[in-house]
Amino acid sequence: MTTPAHPTEPQASRPASRPLGVAAIGYAFMGKAHSNAWRNVASFFDVPAIERKVLVGRDATAVAEAAAKYGWAESATDWRTVITRDDIDIVDICAPGWMHAEIAIAALEAGKHVLVEKPLANTLAEAELMTAAAAKARARGVQSMIGFNYRRVPALALAKELIGEGRLGTVRHVRAAYLQDWLSDAEAPMSWRLRKETAGSGALGDIASHAIDQVLFLLGDQVTEVAGRLHTFVSQRPGGNGIEDVTVDDAAWATLSLTSGAIASVEVSRVATGRKNSLQIEVYGDKGTILFDLENLNELGFLDATAPVREQGFRRILVNEPVHPYLNAWWPQGHIIGWEHTFTHQIRDFLTAIKDGTPPSPSFEEGLNVQYILNAVEESAAAKSALVQLPSPTQSATTSAGRTNLQGA
Ligand SMILES: NC(=O)c1ccc[n+]([C@@H]2O[C@H](COP(=O)([O-])OP(=O)(O)OC[C@H]3O[C@@H](n4cnc5c(N)ncnc54)[C@H](O)[C@@H]3O)[C@@H](O)[C@H]2O)c1
Repeated sequence: MTTPAHPTEPQASRPASRPLGVAAIGYAFMGKAHSNAWRNVASFFDVPAIERKVLVGRDATAVAEAAAKYGWAESATDWRTVITRDDIDIVDICAPGWMHAEIAIAALEAGKHVLVEKPLANTLAEAELMTAAAAKARARGVQSMIGFNYRRVPALALAKELIGEGRLGTVRHVRAAYLQDWLSDAEAPMSWRLRKETAGSGALGDIASHAIDQVLFLLGDQVTEVAGRLHTFVSQRPGGNGIEDVTVDDAAWATLSLTSGAIASVEVSRVATGRKNSLQIEVYGDKGTILFDLENLNELGFLDATAPVREQGFRRILVNEPVHPYLNAWWPQGHIIGWEHTFTHQIRDFLTAIKDGTPPSPSFEEGLNVQYILNAVEESAAAKSALVQLPSPTQSATTSAGRTNLQGA
Protein backbone atom coordinates (compact mmCIF):
# COMPACT_ATOMS: atom_id res chain seq x y z
CA MET A 1 0.00 0.00 0.00
CA THR A 2 1.40 3.37 -1.01
CA THR A 3 1.73 6.06 1.63
CA PRO A 4 -0.80 8.82 1.00
CA ALA A 5 0.40 12.39 0.50
CA HIS A 6 0.60 14.59 3.56
CA PRO A 7 -2.34 17.02 3.52
CA THR A 8 -0.11 20.06 3.27
CA GLU A 9 1.85 18.59 0.37
CA PRO A 10 0.81 19.69 -3.08
CA GLN A 11 -1.43 17.07 -4.62
CA ALA A 12 0.96 16.97 -7.57
CA SER A 13 3.22 14.86 -5.34
CA ARG A 14 0.51 12.27 -4.58
CA PRO A 15 1.67 8.78 -5.63
CA ALA A 16 0.04 8.09 -9.01
CA SER A 17 -0.80 4.54 -7.95
CA ARG A 18 -3.38 5.64 -5.38
CA PRO A 19 -6.87 6.57 -6.60
CA LEU A 20 -7.88 10.16 -5.90
CA GLY A 21 -9.99 10.28 -2.74
CA VAL A 22 -13.07 12.51 -3.05
CA ALA A 23 -15.13 14.23 -0.35
CA ALA A 24 -18.36 16.08 -1.16
CA ILE A 25 -19.82 18.67 1.22
CA GLY A 26 -23.62 18.82 0.93
CA TYR A 27 -25.95 15.99 -0.01
CA ALA A 28 -29.16 17.73 -1.12
CA PHE A 29 -29.83 19.11 -4.62
CA MET A 30 -26.29 19.64 -5.87
CA GLY A 31 -24.84 16.99 -3.57
CA LYS A 32 -27.09 14.46 -5.29
CA ALA A 33 -26.36 15.74 -8.82
CA HIS A 34 -22.59 15.71 -8.20
CA SER A 35 -22.74 12.28 -6.49
CA ASN A 36 -24.41 10.89 -9.59
CA ALA A 37 -21.62 12.33 -11.73
CA TRP A 38 -18.81 11.01 -9.50
CA ARG A 39 -20.49 7.59 -9.64
CA ASN A 40 -20.81 7.52 -13.46
CA VAL A 41 -17.86 9.41 -14.81
CA ALA A 42 -15.41 6.51 -15.08
CA SER A 43 -18.02 4.31 -16.76
CA PHE A 44 -18.06 6.64 -19.75
CA PHE A 45 -14.87 8.68 -19.80
CA ASP A 46 -11.21 7.86 -19.55
CA VAL A 47 -10.37 9.53 -16.25
CA PRO A 48 -7.96 8.91 -13.37
CA ALA A 49 -9.20 6.43 -10.78
CA ILE A 50 -11.21 7.94 -7.94
CA GLU A 51 -12.72 6.71 -4.71
CA ARG A 52 -15.92 8.27 -3.38
CA LYS A 53 -14.73 8.47 0.21
CA VAL A 54 -16.95 10.77 2.28
CA LEU A 55 -20.23 12.64 1.95
CA VAL A 56 -20.64 15.46 4.47
CA GLY A 57 -23.84 17.03 5.85
CA ARG A 58 -25.21 18.41 9.10
CA ASP A 59 -27.69 15.72 10.10
CA ALA A 60 -25.82 12.48 10.88
CA THR A 61 -28.73 10.16 10.11
CA ALA A 62 -29.81 11.92 6.94
CA VAL A 63 -26.29 12.20 5.53
CA ALA A 64 -25.58 8.54 6.36
CA GLU A 65 -28.72 7.54 4.44
CA ALA A 66 -27.72 9.74 1.50
CA ALA A 67 -24.16 8.36 1.49
CA ALA A 68 -25.45 4.79 1.38
CA LYS A 69 -27.94 5.63 -1.37
CA TYR A 70 -25.50 7.59 -3.56
CA GLY A 71 -22.64 5.13 -3.07
CA TRP A 72 -20.17 6.97 -0.81
CA ALA A 73 -17.97 4.81 1.44
CA GLU A 74 -18.82 6.84 4.55
CA SER A 75 -20.51 9.97 5.85
CA ALA A 76 -19.50 12.72 8.27
CA THR A 77 -20.88 15.88 9.87
CA ASP A 78 -17.72 17.93 10.36
CA TRP A 79 -16.25 19.14 7.06
CA ARG A 80 -13.18 20.56 8.84
CA THR A 81 -11.86 17.18 9.88
CA VAL A 82 -12.71 15.64 6.51
CA ILE A 83 -10.84 18.13 4.34
CA THR A 84 -7.54 17.60 6.16
CA ARG A 85 -7.63 13.82 5.90
CA ASP A 86 -4.64 12.21 4.19
CA ASP A 87 -6.86 10.05 2.01
CA ILE A 88 -8.82 13.02 0.61
CA ASP A 89 -7.41 14.63 -2.53
CA ILE A 90 -10.48 16.41 -3.93
CA VAL A 91 -13.10 18.48 -2.09
CA ASP A 92 -16.36 19.06 -3.95
CA ILE A 93 -18.34 21.91 -2.34
CA CYS A 94 -22.09 21.47 -2.84
CA ALA A 95 -23.06 23.59 0.18
CA PRO A 96 -24.78 27.01 0.10
CA GLY A 97 -22.85 30.13 -0.89
CA TRP A 98 -22.19 31.41 2.60
CA MET A 99 -19.94 28.38 3.21
CA HIS A 100 -17.98 28.40 -0.05
CA ALA A 101 -15.14 30.72 0.98
CA GLU A 102 -14.37 29.11 4.32
CA ILE A 103 -14.38 25.55 2.99
CA ALA A 104 -12.61 26.29 -0.29
CA ILE A 105 -9.79 28.30 1.28
CA ALA A 106 -9.23 25.71 4.03
CA ALA A 107 -9.25 22.86 1.49
CA LEU A 108 -6.85 24.62 -0.91
CA GLU A 109 -4.50 25.42 1.98
CA ALA A 110 -4.62 21.74 2.94
CA GLY A 111 -3.44 20.90 -0.59
CA LYS A 112 -6.76 19.54 -1.89
CA HIS A 113 -8.10 20.15 -5.39
CA VAL A 114 -11.40 22.03 -5.09
CA LEU A 115 -14.56 22.06 -7.18
CA VAL A 116 -17.06 24.62 -5.88
CA GLU A 117 -20.63 25.23 -6.94
CA LYS A 118 -21.66 28.63 -8.32
CA PRO A 119 -21.81 31.46 -7.52
CA LEU A 120 -18.21 31.58 -6.31
CA ALA A 121 -19.20 33.32 -3.05
CA ASN A 122 -21.80 35.58 -1.50
CA THR A 123 -19.58 38.67 -1.39
CA LEU A 124 -16.83 40.17 -3.52
CA ALA A 125 -14.46 40.16 -0.57
CA GLU A 126 -14.92 36.39 -0.09
CA ALA A 127 -14.58 35.75 -3.81
CA GLU A 128 -11.31 37.69 -3.93
CA LEU A 129 -9.89 35.75 -0.98
CA MET A 130 -10.89 32.48 -2.65
CA THR A 131 -9.26 33.52 -5.91
CA ALA A 132 -6.04 34.50 -4.16
CA ALA A 133 -6.02 31.13 -2.35
CA ALA A 134 -6.63 29.34 -5.66
CA ALA A 135 -3.73 31.17 -7.35
CA LYS A 136 -1.40 30.30 -4.48
CA ALA A 137 -2.50 26.65 -4.53
CA ARG A 138 -2.20 26.46 -8.33
CA ALA A 139 1.46 27.38 -8.03
CA ARG A 140 1.83 24.20 -5.94
CA GLY A 141 -0.03 22.05 -8.49
CA VAL A 142 -3.36 22.17 -6.66
CA GLN A 143 -6.29 22.81 -9.03
CA SER A 144 -9.63 24.55 -8.54
CA MET A 145 -12.74 25.07 -10.63
CA ILE A 146 -16.21 26.61 -10.31
CA GLY A 147 -19.29 24.61 -11.34
CA PHE A 148 -20.81 26.56 -14.21
CA ASN A 149 -22.11 23.27 -15.55
CA TYR A 150 -23.99 24.73 -18.53
CA ARG A 151 -20.62 25.15 -20.26
CA ARG A 152 -20.76 21.38 -20.51
CA VAL A 153 -24.06 21.14 -22.38
CA PRO A 154 -22.84 19.68 -25.71
CA ALA A 155 -25.10 22.04 -27.72
CA LEU A 156 -23.62 25.09 -25.96
CA ALA A 157 -20.08 23.75 -26.35
CA LEU A 158 -20.88 23.34 -30.07
CA ALA A 159 -22.29 26.88 -30.17
CA LYS A 160 -18.99 28.14 -28.78
CA GLU A 161 -17.08 26.23 -31.47
CA LEU A 162 -19.26 27.69 -34.25
CA ILE A 163 -18.93 31.24 -32.88
CA GLY A 164 -15.16 30.77 -32.52
CA GLU A 165 -14.94 29.58 -36.14
CA GLY A 166 -16.61 32.82 -37.23
CA ARG A 167 -19.81 31.16 -38.46
CA LEU A 168 -21.90 34.00 -37.01
CA GLY A 169 -19.56 36.71 -38.31
CA THR A 170 -19.47 39.70 -36.01
CA VAL A 171 -21.69 39.09 -33.00
CA ARG A 172 -23.92 42.10 -32.46
CA HIS A 173 -26.13 41.11 -29.59
CA VAL A 174 -27.05 38.28 -27.25
CA ARG A 175 -30.27 37.54 -25.38
CA ALA A 176 -29.85 35.38 -22.30
CA ALA A 177 -32.96 34.63 -20.24
CA TYR A 178 -33.01 32.24 -17.29
CA LEU A 179 -36.56 31.87 -16.00
CA GLN A 180 -37.99 29.73 -13.20
CA ASP A 181 -41.26 29.84 -11.26
CA TRP A 182 -40.65 28.07 -7.94
CA LEU A 183 -41.33 31.36 -6.07
CA SER A 184 -44.43 32.31 -8.08
CA ASP A 185 -46.65 31.17 -5.23
CA ALA A 186 -46.62 34.00 -2.63
CA GLU A 187 -46.99 31.32 0.08
CA ALA A 188 -43.81 29.47 -0.94
CA PRO A 189 -41.81 29.30 2.31
CA MET A 190 -38.62 31.09 3.32
CA SER A 191 -35.33 29.28 2.83
CA TRP A 192 -31.61 30.13 2.84
CA ARG A 193 -32.00 31.21 -0.80
CA LEU A 194 -34.25 34.14 0.24
CA ARG A 195 -32.01 35.68 2.90
CA LYS A 196 -29.21 38.02 1.85
CA GLU A 197 -26.89 36.82 4.62
CA THR A 198 -27.06 33.21 3.42
CA ALA A 199 -27.59 33.59 -0.34
CA GLY A 200 -25.83 36.90 -1.10
CA SER A 201 -28.53 37.79 -3.63
CA GLY A 202 -31.61 36.18 -5.18
CA ALA A 203 -32.20 35.31 -8.83
CA LEU A 204 -29.16 37.48 -9.60
CA GLY A 205 -26.47 35.33 -7.97
CA ASP A 206 -28.41 32.11 -8.34
CA ILE A 207 -29.23 32.11 -12.04
CA ALA A 208 -27.92 35.34 -13.64
CA SER A 209 -24.47 34.02 -12.68
CA HIS A 210 -25.08 31.10 -15.09
CA ALA A 211 -26.47 33.36 -17.83
CA ILE A 212 -23.58 35.85 -17.58
CA ASP A 213 -21.02 33.06 -17.54
CA GLN A 214 -22.59 31.70 -20.73
CA VAL A 215 -22.32 35.07 -22.46
CA LEU A 216 -18.63 35.29 -21.53
CA PHE A 217 -18.01 31.64 -22.44
CA LEU A 218 -19.73 31.77 -25.82
CA LEU A 219 -18.25 35.07 -26.95
CA GLY A 220 -14.86 34.82 -25.22
CA ASP A 221 -15.38 38.48 -24.45
CA GLN A 222 -15.21 40.89 -21.51
CA VAL A 223 -17.87 43.15 -20.03
CA THR A 224 -17.05 46.86 -19.91
CA GLU A 225 -20.31 48.47 -18.78
CA VAL A 226 -23.44 47.33 -16.96
CA ALA A 227 -26.94 48.67 -16.37
CA GLY A 228 -29.20 46.70 -14.07
CA ARG A 229 -32.48 46.48 -12.27
CA LEU A 230 -33.61 44.21 -9.43
CA HIS A 231 -37.08 43.63 -8.08
CA THR A 232 -38.68 41.68 -5.26
CA PHE A 233 -42.34 40.99 -6.04
CA VAL A 234 -43.13 39.07 -2.83
CA SER A 235 -41.44 40.87 0.04
CA GLN A 236 -42.60 38.65 2.91
CA ARG A 237 -43.00 34.90 3.12
CA PRO A 238 -43.89 32.32 5.77
CA GLY A 239 -40.88 31.18 7.79
CA GLY A 240 -40.47 28.60 10.57
CA ASN A 241 -41.32 31.21 13.22
CA GLY A 242 -43.88 33.31 11.36
CA ILE A 243 -43.72 35.83 8.56
CA GLU A 244 -40.22 36.87 7.45
CA ASP A 245 -38.90 39.59 5.18
CA VAL A 246 -37.44 38.45 1.89
CA THR A 247 -34.11 40.26 1.58
CA VAL A 248 -33.10 39.30 -1.96
CA ASP A 249 -34.43 39.94 -5.47
CA ASP A 250 -37.02 37.73 -7.19
CA ALA A 251 -35.97 38.91 -10.65
CA ALA A 252 -33.15 40.85 -12.28
CA TRP A 253 -32.49 42.53 -15.60
CA ALA A 254 -29.21 43.74 -17.03
CA THR A 255 -27.63 44.99 -20.20
CA LEU A 256 -23.94 44.28 -20.62
CA SER A 257 -21.62 46.08 -23.03
CA LEU A 258 -18.74 43.94 -24.25
CA THR A 259 -15.28 44.91 -25.48
CA SER A 260 -16.09 43.64 -28.99
CA GLY A 261 -18.92 46.16 -29.22
CA ALA A 262 -21.57 43.48 -28.72
CA ILE A 263 -24.37 44.02 -26.21
CA ALA A 264 -26.01 41.30 -24.13
CA SER A 265 -29.35 41.46 -22.38
CA VAL A 266 -29.74 39.24 -19.36
CA GLU A 267 -33.15 38.58 -17.81
CA VAL A 268 -33.67 36.24 -14.87
CA SER A 269 -36.62 35.43 -12.65
CA ARG A 270 -37.75 32.90 -10.07
CA VAL A 271 -41.39 34.10 -10.38
CA ALA A 272 -41.87 33.58 -14.14
CA THR A 273 -45.05 31.55 -13.83
CA GLY A 274 -44.95 28.45 -16.00
CA ARG A 275 -41.22 28.60 -16.69
CA LYS A 276 -39.63 25.74 -14.75
CA ASN A 277 -35.94 25.90 -15.59
CA SER A 278 -35.83 27.74 -18.87
CA LEU A 279 -32.40 28.96 -19.96
CA GLN A 280 -32.69 30.48 -23.41
CA ILE A 281 -29.74 31.93 -25.26
CA GLU A 282 -29.81 33.67 -28.62
CA VAL A 283 -26.67 34.98 -30.32
CA TYR A 284 -27.08 37.28 -33.31
CA GLY A 285 -24.19 37.95 -35.70
CA ASP A 286 -24.02 39.59 -39.12
CA LYS A 287 -23.50 36.20 -40.80
CA GLY A 288 -25.77 34.02 -38.70
CA THR A 289 -27.68 33.29 -35.53
CA ILE A 290 -27.67 30.63 -32.86
CA LEU A 291 -30.64 29.68 -30.66
CA PHE A 292 -30.56 27.45 -27.57
CA ASP A 293 -33.21 26.41 -25.08
CA LEU A 294 -32.31 24.24 -22.08
CA GLU A 295 -35.73 22.58 -22.28
CA ASN A 296 -34.50 21.05 -25.57
CA LEU A 297 -30.87 20.74 -24.60
CA ASN A 298 -29.96 18.24 -27.31
CA GLU A 299 -30.79 20.77 -30.01
CA LEU A 300 -29.14 23.87 -31.39
CA GLY A 301 -30.86 26.26 -33.79
CA PHE A 302 -28.51 27.66 -36.42
CA LEU A 303 -29.20 30.10 -39.23
CA ASP A 304 -26.46 30.58 -41.80
CA ALA A 305 -27.06 34.02 -43.32
CA THR A 306 -24.34 33.41 -45.93
CA ALA A 307 -26.61 30.85 -47.67
CA PRO A 308 -28.74 32.11 -50.57
CA VAL A 309 -31.72 33.98 -49.09
CA ARG A 310 -34.19 31.67 -50.87
CA GLU A 311 -32.75 28.71 -48.88
CA GLN A 312 -32.25 30.44 -45.53
CA GLY A 313 -34.02 29.36 -42.35
CA PHE A 314 -33.18 27.98 -38.96
CA ARG A 315 -31.90 24.47 -39.04
CA ARG A 316 -32.28 22.22 -36.05
CA ILE A 317 -29.00 20.50 -35.27
CA LEU A 318 -29.56 17.41 -33.17
CA VAL A 319 -26.38 17.62 -31.09
CA ASN A 320 -26.05 13.88 -30.64
CA GLU A 321 -23.34 12.83 -33.05
CA PRO A 322 -19.99 11.39 -31.96
CA VAL A 323 -18.34 14.44 -33.56
CA HIS A 324 -20.11 16.74 -31.11
CA PRO A 325 -18.49 17.77 -27.80
CA TYR A 326 -18.56 15.00 -25.13
CA LEU A 327 -20.89 12.76 -27.15
CA ASN A 328 -18.58 10.05 -28.39
CA ALA A 329 -18.51 8.77 -24.80
CA TRP A 330 -22.29 8.26 -24.61
CA TRP A 331 -24.85 6.40 -26.70
CA PRO A 332 -25.21 5.74 -30.44
CA GLN A 333 -26.30 8.83 -32.39
CA GLY A 334 -29.76 10.17 -31.62
CA HIS A 335 -29.96 8.55 -28.18
CA ILE A 336 -30.34 11.80 -26.34
CA ILE A 337 -28.79 12.88 -23.07
CA GLY A 338 -30.07 15.06 -20.20
CA TRP A 339 -29.32 17.79 -17.67
CA GLU A 340 -27.45 15.46 -15.30
CA HIS A 341 -24.88 14.64 -17.97
CA THR A 342 -23.49 18.19 -17.70
CA PHE A 343 -22.23 17.36 -14.20
CA THR A 344 -20.52 14.20 -15.45
CA HIS A 345 -18.83 16.26 -18.18
CA GLN A 346 -17.80 18.81 -15.55
CA ILE A 347 -16.15 16.16 -13.40
CA ARG A 348 -14.55 14.56 -16.44
CA ASP A 349 -12.95 17.89 -17.35
CA PHE A 350 -11.90 18.55 -13.76
CA LEU A 351 -10.26 15.12 -13.40
CA THR A 352 -8.56 15.46 -16.78
CA ALA A 353 -7.08 18.80 -15.73
CA ILE A 354 -5.84 17.27 -12.46
CA LYS A 355 -4.25 14.40 -14.35
CA ASP A 356 -2.60 16.71 -16.89
CA GLY A 357 -1.60 19.28 -14.27
CA THR A 358 -3.27 22.04 -16.30
CA PRO A 359 -5.55 24.64 -14.68
CA PRO A 360 -9.21 23.78 -15.38
CA SER A 361 -11.77 26.28 -16.62
CA PRO A 362 -13.91 27.97 -15.41
CA SER A 363 -11.33 28.97 -12.83
CA PHE A 364 -11.96 30.91 -9.63
CA GLU A 365 -10.69 33.96 -11.57
CA GLU A 366 -13.52 33.42 -14.04
CA GLY A 367 -15.97 33.01 -11.15
CA LEU A 368 -14.67 36.25 -9.64
CA ASN A 369 -15.09 38.00 -12.97
CA VAL A 370 -18.78 37.00 -12.98
CA GLN A 371 -18.98 38.24 -9.40
CA TYR A 372 -17.73 41.71 -10.43
CA ILE A 373 -20.46 41.85 -13.05
CA LEU A 374 -23.14 40.74 -10.56
CA ASN A 375 -21.89 43.39 -8.18
CA ALA A 376 -22.09 46.03 -10.92
CA VAL A 377 -25.71 45.02 -11.60
CA GLU A 378 -26.51 45.58 -7.91
CA GLU A 379 -24.67 48.90 -7.93
CA SER A 380 -26.54 50.04 -11.02
CA ALA A 381 -29.90 48.91 -9.63
CA ALA A 382 -29.26 50.90 -6.46
CA ALA A 383 -28.59 53.99 -8.60
CA LYS A 384 -31.81 53.77 -10.65
CA SER A 385 -30.15 51.71 -13.41
CA ALA A 386 -27.27 54.12 -13.96
CA LEU A 387 -24.48 52.78 -16.15
CA VAL A 388 -21.64 51.24 -14.12
CA GLN A 389 -18.23 50.95 -15.77
CA LEU A 390 -15.95 47.98 -15.27
CA PRO A 391 -12.22 48.59 -15.70
CA SER A 392 -10.75 47.49 -19.03
CA PRO A 393 -9.09 44.06 -19.12
CA THR A 394 -5.66 45.73 -19.33
CA GLN A 395 -6.30 47.20 -15.90
CA SER A 396 -7.39 43.84 -14.60
CA ALA A 397 -6.42 42.72 -11.16
CA THR A 398 -7.81 40.30 -8.65
CA THR A 399 -8.81 42.98 -6.21
CA SER A 400 -12.03 44.86 -5.63
CA ALA A 401 -10.48 47.80 -7.48
CA GLY A 402 -10.99 45.92 -10.70
CA ARG A 403 -12.12 42.83 -12.47
CA THR A 404 -9.99 39.83 -13.06
CA ASN A 405 -8.37 39.03 -16.39
CA LEU A 406 -9.97 36.02 -18.05
CA GLN A 407 -7.00 35.60 -20.34
CA GLY A 408 -4.94 34.33 -17.43
CA ALA A 409 -7.60 31.84 -16.37
N1 LIG B 1 -25.06 24.30 -11.05
C1 LIG B 1 -26.36 24.34 -10.84
O1 LIG B 1 -27.15 24.16 -11.76
C2 LIG B 1 -26.88 24.59 -9.45
C3 LIG B 1 -28.23 24.32 -9.13
C4 LIG B 1 -28.65 24.51 -7.83
C5 LIG B 1 -27.78 24.99 -6.86
N2 LIG B 1 -26.49 25.28 -7.20
C6 LIG B 1 -25.54 25.78 -6.19
O2 LIG B 1 -25.15 24.68 -5.34
C7 LIG B 1 -24.93 25.13 -4.00
C8 LIG B 1 -25.83 24.32 -3.07
O3 LIG B 1 -27.17 24.49 -3.48
P1 LIG B 1 -28.25 23.32 -3.31
O4 LIG B 1 -29.39 23.68 -4.19
O5 LIG B 1 -27.64 21.97 -3.44
O6 LIG B 1 -28.67 23.58 -1.79
P2 LIG B 1 -29.48 22.60 -0.82
O7 LIG B 1 -30.12 23.46 0.19
O8 LIG B 1 -30.31 21.67 -1.62
O9 LIG B 1 -28.31 21.75 -0.14
C9 LIG B 1 -27.36 22.35 0.68
C10 LIG B 1 -26.56 21.26 1.34
O10 LIG B 1 -25.55 21.87 2.14
C11 LIG B 1 -25.46 21.17 3.37
N3 LIG B 1 -24.92 21.99 4.43
C12 LIG B 1 -25.37 23.18 4.91
N4 LIG B 1 -24.63 23.58 5.95
C13 LIG B 1 -23.67 22.61 6.14
C14 LIG B 1 -22.61 22.43 7.06
N5 LIG B 1 -22.36 23.32 8.00
N6 LIG B 1 -21.84 21.31 6.94
C15 LIG B 1 -22.08 20.41 5.98
N7 LIG B 1 -23.07 20.53 5.06
C16 LIG B 1 -23.86 21.61 5.15
C17 LIG B 1 -26.89 20.77 3.66
O11 LIG B 1 -26.92 19.71 4.57
C18 LIG B 1 -27.37 20.37 2.27
O12 LIG B 1 -27.07 19.02 2.03
C19 LIG B 1 -25.22 26.62 -4.01
O13 LIG B 1 -24.03 27.31 -4.18
C20 LIG B 1 -26.13 26.81 -5.24
O14 LIG B 1 -26.05 28.11 -5.79
C21 LIG B 1 -26.03 25.05 -8.45
